[in-house]
Amino acid sequence: MKKFFLTTPIYYPNARPHVGSAYTTIVCDVLARFKRMCGYDVAFLTGTDEHGEKLERAAAAAGKSPQLFVAEKRKLFVDLWKKLGIPVKVYPESDQRSLRFIYTDHPDHVTSVQRLLIRARDNGYIFKQRYEGRYCVSDERYVSDNTDPVNCDICGRPAELISEDNYFFKLSAFEQRLLELYEKHPDFVKPDYRMNEVKSFVKSGLRDISVSRSRLKWGIPWPDDIHQVFYVWYDALTSYMTGIGYAHGENGSEEFQKYWRNKPGESEIFHMMAKDILRFHAIYWPAFIMAAYPDQPEMLPTTIFAHGWIYYEQDKMSKSKGNVVYPEPMVDALDSFGAPGNDALRYYLLREAPFGQDTSFSYESFIKRYNADLANDLGNLANRTVNMINRYLNAAIPALPVGWETINSAIMGDAQAHATLEANRFAIDSGTVEIVEKSKILHESVMARFTECEFSFVLANVWAFVGDVNKYLVENAPWTLAEQDLQANRDRIAMILGTAAEALRFVAVLLKPVLPAGAQRIWKQLGCEGKVSNQRLDELKWGQLKPGTKVCKAEPIFPRLDKALTLAKLEETAEADRNRDKPKEKSKPVEIDKKQEAEVRSQESAQATPVGPQATTQESQAPTPQPPAPSPAAAVETPKISIDDFVKVEMRTGEIKTAEAIPGAKKLLKLTVDIGTEVRQVCAGIAEFYAPETLIGKKVIVVTNLQPRKLRGVESNGMIVAASVGEEGRPVLATFGEDVPNGVRLK
Ligand code: MSP
Repeated sequence: MKKFFLTTPIYYPNARPHVGSAYTTIVCDVLARFKRMCGYDVAFLTGTDEHGEKLERAAAAAGKSPQLFVAEKRKLFVDLWKKLGIPVKVYPESDQRSLRFIYTDHPDHVTSVQRLLIRARDNGYIFKQRYEGRYCVSDERYVSDNTDPVNCDICGRPAELISEDNYFFKLSAFEQRLLELYEKHPDFVKPDYRMNEVKSFVKSGLRDISVSRSRLKWGIPWPDDIHQVFYVWYDALTSYMTGIGYAHGENGSEEFQKYWRNKPGESEIFHMMAKDILRFHAIYWPAFIMAAYPDQPEMLPTTIFAHGWIYYEQDKMSKSKGNVVYPEPMVDALDSFGAPGNDALRYYLLREAPFGQDTSFSYESFIKRYNADLANDLGNLANRTVNMINRYLNAAIPALPVGWETINSAIMGDAQAHATLEANRFAIDSGTVEIVEKSKILHESVMARFTECEFSFVLANVWAFVGDVNKYLVENAPWTLAEQDLQANRDRIAMILGTAAEALRFVAVLLKPVLPAGAQRIWKQLGCEGKVSNQRLDELKWGQLKPGTKVCKAEPIFPRLDKALTLAKLEETAEADRNRDKPKEKSKPVEIDKKQEAEVRSQESAQATPVGPQATTQESQAPTPQPPAPSPAAAVETPKISIDDFVKVEMRTGEIKTAEAIPGAKKLLKLTVDIGTEVRQVCAGIAEFYAPETLIGKKVIVVTNLQPRKLRGVESNGMIVAASVGEEGRPVLATFGEDVPNGVRLK
């Protein structure tokens, strides 16, 4: 049996997975199912990349140890894959049909990484050298591998020039060998245009890379040097080997021996990822392996496939923009209408754009796709075919006047079969023979397109065929034949509905990898037994439905969605889902009555009045003046927040570059503010107190990690901090007595 080892990248568990991360896993799940249905023995791996300073910092911000933090986040990934209908087993557990899940905090991974490294070192590819780069002492992080002056992109402070002894990997030694590998295996990187990118990068010259760090703690210890830990990519990439048993025995477990083999025609190692991390996979990874196993080309991956990015409404998803879309609420929203949410999401992600290219995502196009393709085209075909078989043919798959074997033989050129067909012209005149011919072409193209990961073409081809069958039904109108004379037209009706039912069976098998639930439901409605997944997709043949098989009652497989209701539901489930993420109150605030509450708020606003989107009410869409500051004597005790709460607010220094009035909004000004790393647009409710021209060049404090909002149709991405003074709440912008660079974080 041919082996196929398939991996997704291992994801950073610093945040919960969104549609983008789900995209790669879903695509790989489709590919894994396809390969299994083609008779491959598949091992499919995903996981989490848990080391490094980013995770360490996120854990510290959450007040947790890195171990506990990553373990909690890891669970979110495992749970999501399960929710998406992908069974998962966490390392070291595994089974043939489940997604394997490796995480880099597992002790076996230490063995793996050190093992690979020691082999490379023994072969002379690791050396110690002075590393020079920029390091932020305040945030304890490596900012740049370059010595050029740069500010820390977290705190804005200038990063210090540091030098330390690190271990380096001799990447430069592999330039020629990598180019040879690409020449010899043109399919090593896919799609082709990505191969060209990789080649030209290597041709431009490779520099040795530092693979350890001395100032990091949260990482895999360097063998024989307690002062160093592995630095990111060496650790992360090796997880692909750990996940399949590399740490076991001297040369890996039996499973490792079985699956980690690149032998064309026998076994393949296939890595899938988005284009942003292609270079690490296509350059570093084969070099790391060649260094450890110089004479074993079967240890190298077979294919590195880089796909495109998923955007939300043409925009890159990012937490700070507040436009991150999560898959769970989408699935729940559709499920609540009886539509198979998982299938719908899978179909949409694969159908919308040619695989490999970037694609944009929106709820509207999601609903539109579902209704047009799943509810209308495929759903209707299934529904009316099964319905008519129930009504006109006693709910049984009919025996045909000319059997499929005869039709198949005639298509293959058999003269006798052809003569039989000629004697039964209806099979030809109705277009039945043409449908059978088309099914053969479809099968070939689906096999080829699937193998090349051209998922949108697979689906476009299947849908063209579904369209042909729908047209065939309309042109032959079995309902009219039944109305005219059911008995006299029985043979014709049997031919037409028998063809439609067979086409549905055919399509159910082809679509099973993409629509696991829907395909099984079609299968069941046709009265077929067992699981569609047990069918061999590569050996799929027309004409396997057994005459006499009882079909089930027709029930909508993909019920049509009402656009407005579904949009509302999608928003509602997404909102409920966002609330799930909000940090829970640790302690209940002291109970205070309404009056006291107002006083507390006004006292807070006297300390610093934010002037930006959050200072406004949603209804008015314009800032309301802050309540006047009470005298200190009137203050009640302000509820205390922890330092953890405070550090969540990111405030940075900024310089106002432009300021202008917003037509129709008498209190608002539109500002652009340079915050060091970028120039942001912020709306501020200060128009009644500041003339725009007096603001240019002013140093201000900007809250930079607020979700963007639109005020009077103008996007505001941040908030300017001001005091609110006197009865009328006059804003006075907070600024500095000394010169400060832009983008410095306030702590
Ligand atoms: N931990 C590294 C990978 C190490 S692999 C040895 C990493 N993690 S990541 O979480 O930042 O991203 C991993 C992958 O998530 C991307 O390569 C891609 O497969 C997927 N995606 C995350 N966001 C995505 C989109 N918005 N669109 C498409 N894929 C995206 O890099």
